Amino acid sequence: MMIRAATTADTTGLAKVHVDTWKAAYRGIVADSFLDELSYERSAKGWERALGASGSRQRVLVAEDDDGSIVGFASGGPNRDSDTPFAAELWAIYVLPGNQGCGLGRRLLLQFAGAVLADGLDSLGVWVLEDNAKGRRFYEAMGGVLAGQRQVEIAGQSLREVAYGWPDIRTLPWVV
Ligand code: ACO
Repeated sequence: MMIRAATTADTTGLAKVHVDTWKAAYRGIVADSFLDELSYERSAKGWERALGASGSRQRVLVAEDDDGSIVGFASGGPNRDSDTPFAAELWAIYVLPGNQGCGLGRRLLLQFAGAVLADGLDSLGVWVLEDNAKGRRFYEAMGGVLAGQRQVEIAGQSLREVAYGWPDIRTLPWVV
């Protein structure tokens, strides 16, 4: 299993991980009608725009298995909001259901943290749905500390998110 920077050739693989993992992780949290309408094509177009943008500070890492299939990704960049004091923000981290629990999320998060640190961003935050118990346990296992809460709207539903943070990325365990 290899972790590397994403390229514009990865949009189909990224879309598959994004859509399939959303459908599995958010069933029962986000409305079924919204999850059922998620499409590989729309997601791939979003990735094409993101990866094709010149001068973007977004970092996207993919986890690729031995057959060259993308099974996970981490994406983020400078913090998008001022509600948390962190320099960088992990916008999304997703590992296909069949590949979860094998250490890939840990490797993606640590490598992502290293990438933003190299960009001069030395603290990291992430927002996660309050009801996403598994996601929250992952951030807690990775040493994230609770750092805020907010309401967001997804598909017309008002949902609560909580933030986790790593105030100093340099204290993360750099064994990937
Ligand atoms: N319960 C308890 N501990 C957990 C759980 C869990 N559900 N999931 C992971 N952990 C712990 C592991 O035990 C491990 O800790 P350890 O090293 O101390 O034993 C550590 O977290 C790392 O585990 P990994 O195997 O690397 O985690 P995984 O590969 O499953 O990746 C992830 C975690 C990304 C959350 C994955 O499970 C996933 O894609 N879940 C569904 C999507 C999701 O919720 N993504 C986050 C949404 S928020 C956002 O994207 C900004």
